[in-house]
Amino acid sequence: MQGELESLYQAALAALAAVATSDGLHEWEVMYIGKNGSVTKMLRGVGAVAKEERAAFGKRANEIKEALTNAFAQRDDLVKGQELAQDLEGGDIDVTLPGRARPMGGLHPSTQTLREFYDIWAEMGFQVYRSRDIETDDMNFTLLNMPPDHPARDMQDTFYTTTPNVILRTHTSPGQIRAMHEFGANGSQPIRIILPGMCYRFEQITARSEIQFNQVEGLAVGRNIRMSDLKGTVAEFARKMFGENAKVRFRASYFPFTEPSMEVDVECFLCGGEGCNVCKYSGWLEIAGSGMIHPTVLQNGGYDPNEWSGFAFGMGPERITMLKYGIRDIRYFWSNDLRFLEQF
Ligand code: PHE
Repeated sequence: MQGELESLYQAALAALAAVATSDGLHEWEVMYIGKNGSVTKMLRGVGAVAKEERAAFGKRANEIKEALTNAFAQRDDLVKGQELAQDLEGGDIDVTLPGRARPMGGLHPSTQTLREFYDIWAEMGFQVYRSRDIETDDMNFTLLNMPPDHPARDMQDTFYTTTPNVILRTHTSPGQIRAMHEFGANGSQPIRIILPGMCYRFEQITARSEIQFNQVEGLAVGRNIRMSDLKGTVAEFARKMFGENAKVRFRASYFPFTEPSMEVDVECFLCGGEGCNVCKYSGWLEIAGSGMIHPTVLQNGGYDPNEWSGFAFGMGPERITMLKYGIRDIRYFWSNDLRFLEQF
């Protein structure tokens, strides 16, 4: 047995030294050290060896298997290296050929803008708070100072569900009430958050209006918050978003849930305020609705309006993305056309 083992070892080494191709390598491996190779078999046959010799035989057989495995690895490197060198010399491999492009997904332009928003607001201490898309009529309207027959409801055509009083939110403002209770602990804690998310309106789809769109609501509640805080905060956002020289202006407006209410414009960053077709020759672009939280809304959120005050704003990331990239039609956003999406 011992003698057989040694001659098998010598034979295997000699055969390996003669191997010159990767096919040959594979054959050699199967023949000697593979699962059914002769060396492996011999190792397995250790039980047939006389008892006194068994330990020595097993030890030697293991040594040989290991030595052959190492020799094989070396030969493998050598042979494959030679084959590669041959291929390169023979011109079978064109090393100047460009690599294959791996198709990679990208972030949707709205997601990119939203993330930019999150970074800027986070720097100013605003946490992201997620409210729900499916709302009650109360949260979306009544508690925001729009009782059932309020004319302002007409501005936001609503998707109703088959469940009475349950609707798709038409804006992110209902999140204000939820946040006041949940985040503000029923009107006992200050708040500084943004509420991003999808909103839905039952509107004619046109180049300028979609039935779904994102909004980013901002909400700050505290004991001493004034209109100057709102103006300064929104102006700082505009500088971070549109550049250090971005100018903003505030225009009186109306929302039932803020008093006073203001629309925020930023100087047109496409024409620098000169007037162009994007800003309709006004030099200004509207970027947000905003205002001081109406006392009734504070109360509905659990705050005592004599002690607490706050501001809120609502921005449209799609609108800002459209302005930034000169996108002329909002319908591109959700039509999933790769020719559009791949541009970002
Ligand atoms: N919710 C308003 C809208 O959708 C925007 C807004 C938010 C205005 C917060 C004031 C304060 O038009």
